[in-house]
Amino acid sequence: MSLGSQKIFDAFNQQVGNEMGASMQYIQIAAYFDGEGLGGLARFFYRQSDEERDHAMKFVNFVVDAGGPLRIPQIVEPRSEFSSAADAVQAALDWEREVTAQIYGLVDIGKEESNYIALRFLDWFVEEQFEEVTTMEELLQVVQRAGDDNLLAVEEYLSREGMLPERPAENGAE
Ligand SMILES: [Fe+2]
Ligand SMILES: [Fe+2]
Repeated sequence: MSLGSQKIFDAFNQQVGNEMGASMQYIQIAAYFDGEGLGGLARFFYRQSDEERDHAMKFVNFVVDAGGPLRIPQIVEPRSEFSSAADAVQAALDWEREVTAQIYGLVDIGKEESNYIALRFLDWFVEEQFEEVTTMEELLQVVQRAGDDNLLAVEEYLSREGMLPERPAENGAE
């Protein structure tokens, strides 16, 4: 049984690509911080990347479960050059704002089509985007306030606030 129109499946497939694009963008941002010797910020963004892949998989599972054809679109090449920590975090914030607009667009389609199951599914993403935008805004503020010479203080802040993932045991054993 198909629980969606072609239009909604097309839009959901596009969102699989958008979330995978976000995942790749976060790998680039993490690599930038790794290159700057900021392992904590790198870990923060590698974890963000994993989360974006999970988001993509939620859309994949919805499309498959709802009986639609899965068609992953071409993924846009992520940005790979950043001039500063603030520039890299700003790129992340811009992404999250863009994804929020994309999710709202999907909600609009769900409403147009009275697709209540899709709307329920999308509710989780509406809340998630609110959290993600808020987190990136906070991180950008902290990075800007610290300045380029004080980024270790940013990592300490993230650690204190419980925003840093644990260092993996295999390369973090001390
Ligand atoms: Fe996402
Ligand atoms: Fe996100």
